[in-house]
Amino acid sequence: MSGQRVCVSDFEEEARKVLPKAVYDYYRSGADEQRTLADNVAAFNRWYLVPRVLRDVSTVDLSVSVLGQKLSMPLCVAATAMQRMAHFEGETATARACRAVGTGMMLSSWATSTIEEVMSAMTSVGAGGVLWLQLYIYKDRELTLSLVRRAEEAGYKAIFVTVDTPYLGRRWADMRNRFKLPSHLSMSNFSTASLAFSEGNYGNDSGLAVYVAKAIDPTLCWDDITWLKKHTHLPVIVKGVLNGQDAIQAVNYGVDGIVVSNHGARQLDGVPATLDVLEDVVRAVQGRCDVYMDGGVRQGTDVLKALAMGAKAVFIGRPVLWGLACQGEQGVRELLELLKEELRLAMALSGCRSISEVSRSLVRRVEFTSRM
Ligand code: FNR
Ligand code: LAC
Repeated sequence: MSGQRVCVSDFEEEARKVLPKAVYDYYRSGADEQRTLADNVAAFNRWYLVPRVLRDVSTVDLSVSVLGQKLSMPLCVAATAMQRMAHFEGETATARACRAVGTGMMLSSWATSTIEEVMSAMTSVGAGGVLWLQLYIYKDRELTLSLVRRAEEAGYKAIFVTVDTPYLGRRWADMRNRFKLPSHLSMSNFSTASLAFSEGNYGNDSGLAVYVAKAIDPTLCWDDITWLKKHTHLPVIVKGVLNGQDAIQAVNYGVDGIVVSNHGARQLDGVPATLDVLEDVVRAVQGRCDVYMDGGVRQGTDVLKALAMGAKAVFIGRPVLWGLACQGEQGVRELLELLKEELRLAMALSGCRSISEVSRSLVRRVEFTSRM
């Protein structure tokens, strides 16, 4: 048992101690020099919260509706691949924690648990929680559609299609570690060993980069969004938009939502922090679809700032992996409850009694004065 964990970095510190180095490196790394990785977090420090007072904040309602589902808070779990490297129950533990807290979980296509087993973990004990599938589009389109069909049949509520990964970014630690899955694990949604990332010759490279180059379709373009929408009745959300022009395209192609995301700074290094482009996207979209964001959210005040700048909800990636590594389902639950309490307190101290009271006037950009 650990000492008391009072903030997200306490979880990371503990996780770093228990995880094998190659696993910790894979989870935490960004691409190249990791400039954007640091900036995703730093961007939140470029904004002040400007609170209102004397508003009776004795009760604060954090609930929101996301893609037609009621959630206990506007903070959800982003897709992160291969969670059984963090804890033997992996994605099933994360799903149970999300159910307990009443929030949504985006399951990675590259989960080490099947679409069906994660759904039964989510629904086995009472109601609460929502599952969405994150979709990678394979060169093999029938295979891709089989994932969509399985998600529909199992009761998933939306498809988040990742659009920022025609190839994998260069993550130096993974290249040096020749990252691959431990031999007892596989990407469970696939039945052949090569698609399940459980065998193959990956040479001197990140095994995952080799896998992506072999299997994932780099020809993807906007017409493939039309193709996907034609094949599913579920809402389709594009994950990985940073540019207002792309946001307009997404709306024109009829998406139900956009996730402003730079993939946790793991793809193209040198892109802006997601918080810094959130408003461009919100402005471009003009309310025609929902806008979500992820990247660098580590505190309740971060969530509040992103909501004030127009996000309908935000997602967290790495912190959930730290929760899993620390203590499985209980660790993820504790982490989500911590962030929920931080958000409740931040809202109360800002004079917001419900999410609908969080408005743009709550945040102001910090003006830097040069010391040069
Ligand atoms: C990811 N991310 C990701 N995205 C996706 O669409 N499919 C995936 O399988 C994965 N896998 C994955 C693994 C790991 C280890 C990380 C850290 C990230 C990106 C993820 O969904 C999300 O965009 C970022 O993690 C958000 O940034 P933070 O919260 O980690 O800073
Ligand atoms: C990653 C892939 C799985 O970021 O999306 O590692």
